[in-house]
Amino acid sequence: MLKSYTPDVPLSAYNTFHIGGDASFLLEAHTKEELQRGIEEAHEAHMPLLVLGGGSNVLISDDGINACVIINKVKGTTFSHEGETVYATVSSGEMLDDFVADCVAKGYWGLENLSHIPGTVGATPIQNVGAYGVEVSSYITSVNAINTHTGVEKVFTTKECGFEYRNSYFKTIVGKQWVIVSVTFALSTVARPQVGYADLAKRFEGIAAPVLSDIRNAVIDIRSKKFPNWQEVGTAGSFFKNPVIATDHFNRLKNQYPDLPGYVVNDEYMKVPLGWVLDKICNLKGVTHGYVGSYSEQALVLVAAAGARASDVNDFARMISETVFLKTQIMIEHEVTHL
Ligand code: EPU
Repeated sequence: MLKSYTPDVPLSAYNTFHIGGDASFLLEAHTKEELQRGIEEAHEAHMPLLVLGGGSNVLISDDGINACVIINKVKGTTFSHEGETVYATVSSGEMLDDFVADCVAKGYWGLENLSHIPGTVGATPIQNVGAYGVEVSSYITSVNAINTHTGVEKVFTTKECGFEYRNSYFKTIVGKQWVIVSVTFALSTVARPQVGYADLAKRFEGIAAPVLSDIRNAVIDIRSKKFPNWQEVGTAGSFFKNPVIATDHFNRLKNQYPDLPGYVVNDEYMKVPLGWVLDKICNLKGVTHGYVGSYSEQALVLVAAAGARASDVNDFARMISETVFLKTQIMIEHEVTHL
């Protein structure tokens, strides 16, 4: 029944934390047909199905995953032009950074601020990937997905994707029934530098018209100082979301910590950079317990040494959540997906 799958495959090789037990069944899909076959076989066998891309935003249980796991390696990109707009339809298994590098080389503006983010294109709509003032949702025009129960293919409009900060329809219970096959982005041949984010603004002070490669290089340089190399150290980037709290709550904290940064969400809510809270209020930057620690250059990033287990990461994350709550009464949420 599960002819295309291999049984009992360790998942630690398929995620950037390098943690996790075995997948009951695993398939690396290199073409859309292999992906469809894998979905069909899992359905026929009444097995739960999980599709992984780069595994760069997940923490996989030490007990493994009792499911059919498909590693999405389906590649291919097509471009079409309409005036100054370039539509790029990208297969979900393409690495995001390969696509971003290609756009920069071709002179297509839009995604350059997302340079060097690990993971696949197919994962970007799921958690509405964002960095340095840009979220993918601003450039996505549609998402093509297959329903795992019916095999039906559907094109989701941006509205149907339900994009929010690090969230979308595809993270909901019903949304999880869909496997993303390709994503269409609308880019521009006209220069549109987005260098308002503090770290970039500093770099481009006094530079009126940065070119695409300047922005990509600046982002890569900034990221290299804030993130460990995930090929060497176990990590999934930001482990927690930046919390959104009531303005009253923010004002109380601001009285206590006058330098606390905050971004207005609306009249009632403020978003707080948790990295700052962990670093300046909780003194947790660079703190390590056993195998797991908060990264020395960016407290929001957790790092796991070889040998760490998911339970070690979870224990450390719990300690962080409790400390933040004790000091600030903020309840924080995990940004990584637990599998
Ligand atoms: N900060 C500190 N100490 C720290 C970390 C941060 O003081 O240890 C301060 C910074 O100086 C800055 C503020 O906190 O004033 C925000 O830090 P940063 O610009 O590094 O961004 P972030 O809010 O920590 C978010 C995203 C990242 C994304 C960066 C850049 C989330 C959960 N994280 O981090 O996304 O790369 O902005 O845009 O929204 C991810 O989602 O995995 C991810 C890495």
